[in-house]
Amino acid sequence: MPWKPDDLARRLDDVVAVYGEAMGYRAELLEARRGYIATHVRRPGFRAVATLTRDGHLVGFGYGYTSAGGQWWHDQVRGALDDENRKAWLTDCFEVVELHVRPPAQGHGVGARQLRTLLSMAAGRTALLSTPEADERTSRAWRLYRRFEFVDVLRDFRFPGDERAFAVLGRTLPLAG
Ligand SMILES: CC(C)(COP(=O)(O)OP(=O)(O)OC[C@H]1O[C@@H](n2cnc3c(N)ncnc32)[C@H](O)[C@@H]1OP(=O)(O)O)[C@@H](O)C(=O)NCCC(=O)NCCS
Repeated sequence: MPWKPDDLARRLDDVVAVYGEAMGYRAELLEARRGYIATHVRRPGFRAVATLTRDGHLVGFGYGYTSAGGQWWHDQVRGALDDENRKAWLTDCFEVVELHVRPPAQGHGVGARQLRTLLSMAAGRTALLSTPEADERTSRAWRLYRRFEFVDVLRDFRFPGDERAFAVLGRTLPLAG
């Protein structure tokens, strides 16, 4: 179901818990992330989606917003693209910032439903996201993004302060069908 900014802000503890479980991150890292997420809900073009159990427990969530200069992620990606790709991908772009499902609930279509809902609400001509490099055939996240026809925008990209390699993937909007 779609979530308003305040819905997410109210359930920030649960959101951070699902995020931590899905990504396997430690508590110290999550504290910093919590602060970022709290500011993200106020960004222009913010859209969010949540999946709840019947009794209201959070199973998964996703959110994004309009990608714009001055945002850290946008500026990193912009700096790595040539003029043509900058124009094509970043002019009117929705960034899918987070998409997570609690591990016990993964593999049952929740992530796909969340991504579909999020992209169908998104404003913009393109959608971009970043994801850690992984085996495209076995990684659940990669398979999901490929099913949604995301293509390579950057590969083996290093964001400052993170030693992992990331891919930046993109697709045009709107979603067909
Ligand atoms: C990536 C992630 C969001 C995907 O969510 P998910 O709910 O596991 O994904 P889905 O269930 O929609 O798709 C996964 C599988 O379910 C299958 N599926 C889709 N609809 C289904 C349905 N109705 N019933 C059963 N299976 C279904 C898909 O075919 C897919 O199979 P595959 O993984 O073998 O390719 C989730 O696994 C996750 O949070 N992972 C850890 C965090 C992460 O990597 N986040 C993204 C980082 S950028």
